[in-house]
Amino acid sequence: MSKARILIIEDEKLIRWSLRQRFQEEGLGVEEAEDGASGLSMVGNQIFDLVMLDYKLPDMTGLDVLRQIREHDGDIVVVMMTAFSSVENAVEAMRLGAYDYVSKPFKMDELMLTVVKALQTTALRREVRDFRAQMKDKFGFSRILGQCESMTRLFALIHDVAASGTSTVFLRGESGTGKDLVARAVHYNSDRAARPFMNITCTAITETLLESELFGHERGAFTDARQQKKGLLELADGGTVFLDEVGDMPPTLQAKLLRFLEEKSFRRVGGVKDIEVDVRVIAATNRDVNKLISEGRFREDLYFRLNVIGIDLPPLRERGNDVRLIAEYFTDVYAREFRKPIQSLTPDAIDKLMRYNWPGNVRELRNTIERAVLLSKGPDITAQDLVVGQSNQTDTAPTSSLVKLPPGGMTLAELEEDLIRQALVATHYNQTRAAKMLGISRDQLKYRIDRYGLTPDKLNIEVGPSGAAS
Ligand SMILES: Nc1ncnc2c1ncn2[C@@H]1O[C@H](COP(=O)(O)OP(=O)(O)OP(=O)(O)O)[C@@H](O)[C@H]1O
Ligand SMILES: [Mg+2]
Repeated sequence: MSKARILIIEDEKLIRWSLRQRFQEEGLGVEEAEDGASGLSMVGNQIFDLVMLDYKLPDMTGLDVLRQIREHDGDIVVVMMTAFSSVENAVEAMRLGAYDYVSKPFKMDELMLTVVKALQTTALRREVRDFRAQMKDKFGFSRILGQCESMTRLFALIHDVAASGTSTVFLRGESGTGKDLVARAVHYNSDRAARPFMNITCTAITETLLESELFGHERGAFTDARQQKKGLLELADGGTVFLDEVGDMPPTLQAKLLRFLEEKSFRRVGGVKDIEVDVRVIAATNRDVNKLISEGRFREDLYFRLNVIGIDLPPLRERGNDVRLIAEYFTDVYAREFRKPIQSLTPDAIDKLMRYNWPGNVRELRNTIERAVLLSKGPDITAQDLVVGQSNQTDTAPTSSLVKLPPGGMTLAELEEDLIRQALVATHYNQTRAAKMLGISRDQLKYRIDRYGLTPDKLNIEVGPSGAAS
């Protein structure tokens, strides 16, 4: 670590001198200011890890200086120095964001303990700040590619939505259009960015689990609740909760979510206390909401509550030249990742991409490019390297040879179980491949395997020791 730098703002020369001696002995860098104004100008122009600030200065009070330092940089760590310990002053200073205070005359060893702790706090605050900046970079707008008109409008909208801070957002768009990216961009560009972003997929787990994940539970609320647990809404206090695939939320939970959105408070499962939190809810679905509503599977009143700001993500096939832009971007990304000397795509490759209709949207395009970069013998990706259509079939829909239309009278659940069974058999119980084949996530598959009890045993599949059952 480079040498930490301390600024001493203190009018008494002797005190400055004795602090300087001690700090330098400890290997710390020291600067001095003899009044508030010069101290403030130094804070404005240089970076300090800690400010030691006197209460009584010739030109202004230490509290005024503190207030202005904090306005300039809310993360800076300030320790107040006072001639006599006045409780009111100390309380006021802490309220204004001072880290600690020490009283004169100093016991130097005690003072050093405070200084060391304060410097550790500075280091930690900086780390958090860097981390936040990285997250903003990682999940900010810059990662969402798009230049077409609808995307340009979308960026402006995300910007406004992020600034608005509390309104509930509803993201609609086909699979792979970037709902996840947009949800994170909204969070990391809002003033909630320093607080948690929590997401949960409403499909993958049972109703009881989902409820307790969201709202938490009290000890003994149900059989497995051995301990009290906070839910995501509580953990995300001050931040954002992203409810993915909200269209799959069971009806009773929809009612509870609605109540929370209306009252801003909720109870843990088995709890009697109302808990208030400040979270922004972002919900998303790739299903046709109107259809879900008309089928009675999604509450209309909940939809209105969630849809305060509705954002529609355009499918890739309607985004014109963005296909090319995104293809070139990912070509570059994967060429680096796989260390392949691939420069670009040939005109006929681009033509092929532009003519395809991308049912799996950007995700499918990215996967297509990844595969092409891997397969390509370079220097450019040709139309032949690009396998489109076929990849989509295995990614999002069962191949026709797999589906055997069931005899009449089968319920949807039976049909689902049957399809899963077929996919598991066809892949020798490789869950990753089976999930791909069925166009669902592995978690979703696992959940259904549990629900239907589709163990390898039951399906008569032998799973080798090397574990085809991944
Ligand atoms: N505009 C975009 N720019 C760059 N990459 C994108 C964009 N949209 C999507 N992607 C890529 O596609 C992948 C899928 O996006 P995302 O997970 O946000 O989709 P989704 O709409 O949530 O899909 P699903 O409904 O299947 O959950 C992302 O990992 C990202 O790499
Ligand atoms: Mg998603």
